[in-house]
Amino acid sequence: MTTLLHLDASARRRSISRELSAAFAHSWRSQHPDGGYVYRDLAADPLPFIDEGWTELCDAVLSQRNTDLDRISELVRTPAQESAWDIAGPLLAELRAADVVLIGSPMYNYSIPAALKAWLDQVTFPRMSLAPRRFVIAAARGGAYSDGAPKAAFDYQQRYLRDFLAGHFAVTETAFITAELVNSRHDQALAHLRADHERSYALAIDTARLLGKEY
Ligand SMILES: Cc1cc2nc3c(=O)[nH]c(=O)nc-3n(C[C@H](O)[C@H](O)[C@H](O)COP(=O)(O)O)c2cc1C
Repeated sequence: MTTLLHLDASARRRSISRELSAAFAHSWRSQHPDGGYVYRDLAADPLPFIDEGWTELCDAVLSQRNTDLDRISELVRTPAQESAWDIAGPLLAELRAADVVLIGSPMYNYSIPAALKAWLDQVTFPRMSLAPRRFVIAAARGGAYSDGAPKAAFDYQQRYLRDFLAGHFAVTETAFITAELVNSRHDQALAHLRADHERSYALAIDTARLLGKEY
């Protein structure tokens, strides 16, 4: 059974990244009526940050050269490590069961929300061997960062996710669906860019629906 893991990370309930990820998920689910679907709201139900027990497990993975995720539990020695694994283990199982991972992510301070970073920290063990899977990032940002924009070099949201996922998650493909200039909806100083935003938003919604059908 093919399975979609859908994560959202916006602190807003009414959010553009949530709208985009929902559009993809809706399309994907109508295309895969028998597919598995797991939803996790990382903002409404935040995960704890990794703690010392988690770092000890991580060190044990390296020193025992254990890249087999099914055997991490065998490395647990202390109550602190056990509670760390009680959190990370089910999250990793959820990730490993997914063929497609969909992440709704706003840009916060040029990068990703701490809520999403907390998930990445929990599920990323060194040199882990994962089966290949596809990622889709439904992204929103207040400004413009695409090629040619004056602040293009400050896009640590897309660059970070693309490079990090490629480095650790055996991704076959990471697709980005991005709505830019969202702040033009609220900020008078950006009102002249509202039409550019509307175009970017409309294209992003269409792309989300289309990719949801194709994946
Ligand atoms: C804490 C915070 C930090 C933000 N930092 C940036 C930023 O660095 N660059 C930017 O273009 N927009 C920034 N924004 C604007 C958001 O990216 C924009 O509101 C986007 O629509 C948020 O996604 P959402 O609608 O899914 O919540 C920030 C917003 C918040 C709340």
